[in-house]
Amino acid sequence: MLYILRVCVGNAFVSFIGSEDRTPKKRFSEVQKERREQAQRTVLIHCPNKISEKKFLKYLSQHGPVNSHFFYESFGLYAVVEFSQKESVVSLQNVTRTPSLGTEAAIPFRSRYFNLKLKTPLNQTSEQSSIQCRNQSSPSSKKLFELLCCAESVDDQLNTLLREFQLTEENSKLRYLTCSLIEDVAAAYFPGCTVRPFGSSVNSFGKLGCDLDMFLDLDEIENFSTHKASGNFLMEFQVKNVPSERIATQKILSVIGECLDHFGPGCVGVQKILNARCPLVRFSHQASGFQCDLTTNNRIALKSSELLYIYGALDSRVRALVFSIRCWARAHSLTSSIPGAWITNFSLTVMVIFFLQRRSPPILPTLDYLKTLADRELQPFALLHISVPSPEVALSSCLLSLPGERPHDHGREDTPSPKACLVNATFSVGKRPEIGGGSQCSVTVRHAEDKCIIEGHNCTFVRDFNRIKPSGNAETLELLLKEFFEYFGNFAFNKNSINIRQGREQNKPESSPLHIQNPFETSLNVSKNVSQSQLQKFIDLARESAWILHQEDRDRLSPSNNQPWGLAALLLPSVANSTSLAKKKKKPASERIKNLLESIKSSSTENSTAANG
Ligand code: CTP
Ligand code: MG
Repeated sequence: MLYILRVCVGNAFVSFIGSEDRTPKKRFSEVQKERREQAQRTVLIHCPNKISEKKFLKYLSQHGPVNSHFFYESFGLYAVVEFSQKESVVSLQNVTRTPSLGTEAAIPFRSRYFNLKLKTPLNQTSEQSSIQCRNQSSPSSKKLFELLCCAESVDDQLNTLLREFQLTEENSKLRYLTCSLIEDVAAAYFPGCTVRPFGSSVNSFGKLGCDLDMFLDLDEIENFSTHKASGNFLMEFQVKNVPSERIATQKILSVIGECLDHFGPGCVGVQKILNARCPLVRFSHQASGFQCDLTTNNRIALKSSELLYIYGALDSRVRALVFSIRCWARAHSLTSSIPGAWITNFSLTVMVIFFLQRRSPPILPTLDYLKTLADRELQPFALLHISVPSPEVALSSCLLSLPGERPHDHGREDTPSPKACLVNATFSVGKRPEIGGGSQCSVTVRHAEDKCIIEGHNCTFVRDFNRIKPSGNAETLELLLKEFFEYFGNFAFNKNSINIRQGREQNKPESSPLHIQNPFETSLNVSKNVSQSQLQKFIDLARESAWILHQEDRDRLSPSNNQPWGLAALLLPSVANSTSLAKKKKKPASERIKNLLESIKSSSTENSTAANG
């Protein structure tokens, strides 16, 4: 008999995460791998406006089975078609010709982005089934207001906004496909390279229409060569040397930028921004409509995307709150698509995470806590055979033999915690004379899988959600929204820094108006660009929004119909206008609001004390 156990040991075992959404979620790396592989089997086709979907699919199926497809509109009709096998793409490419353009000349670049033409136009209307196009953009403000005003509660409003703005399955596919198409171009120079999406396209906080951040990952090419080294010989490529890593990055991006500009189908408006702190190539991918930012070897940013993805998956309130705060900030021009002294969406997301870490009990764990749950490096034993009477005894013996299980090891920062180790144990009952019979047990201990050091920065944290306990906090989204505005309306930005690693305020190490520590490159401030006046605008709007929500609480018994309420009221430009009007008065409105809020709070505390008394 063979028992295979997969045991997550100790107090870290939790099956499902999130207060509402109880479906287990995939690891970030699994999602990335699956989506990437899916994208490699997918093609993008510009179609004639009038097309028979049935015939179109029949035509493509000649090259192999089609797994899925969808159409969308973006200055023309496009189809995204996912084949079951990569070979089908090659087969399709083999029957595709390079167009002859009359006076112009075509550059014969064989990509996975095609143009479908009809040999004879469709003339029977019956042939044209009506094609359902998938929407790739977020709802208009008018539609959003209608939806928000029809919602049943503020919580419902926040969840509605999330539902309407989050990336759809199709939009995510299109993002991975676009990266995969750019990878094909880059692979002409660097075979085996990978172009990975990061930022809001993959961190679960992306809104329809957000930019597509991607980076050219050349690490795997380097790792490949080290694996192959064997014997006494070590083969190295002859390469060109340049004075610094930065210059290497600039040279690579410069050439890829040129290539995208000259040969990349659908890539327009290519700008090489090579003198930025993080050099990049910016371009529009016309067919998908994405504004793309291509960088290189940006693994830390990918890691921070993974961290945000985990935070977004831990509790269903996180994404709803982040989307609403981002939307509120956009509505009041606190954020902008143009780079400048404004707060960015990334900074706002980190602020929401920090706020949720500060609740009592906390809704989100600190990054340091996620680090303690990570797989730790154990002494090198991968497989252990022991002879024991039963699987249960075997398991406890195995655990006892794990380093760190000895009682005196507990509680020490530097010793591995076996409570957080994943153990694969295989038991077989039968005789093994050489070890005295009984059951045999093979134990495999995971070796610091989560450990991740990038450019000297420790980016280790647990990547398996199942090890993170859900929060016992049951606060409503309405309360959290109000408290968020109050919290940051009163935050001591002048002396404190926001730090999600420790989940508490730190003294500001430098004098930028807003200091938010980069979770991994801890000496960096992610909001270094933010000016004092932009920060003040944020504070003023936060106070006014807290005030509006408080007022609504009081008026709840007599709601006036036809008036935007809850989140809808916060998104109205009138909040911003009232701020600018108030500025003309002697005492700033936000100070008055702050004082009023404090007095409301203290009177409600007195009332409740009196009631209790
Ligand atoms: N990033 C960072 N430090 C910054 C700015 C950005 O580490 N000061 C990383 C973050 O991982 C971020 C990613 O770069 O998610 C992409 O940056 P950006 O496009 O500005 O933010 P997004 O999170 O993608 O949000 P948006 O939807 O506004 O694009
Ligand atoms: Mg982005």
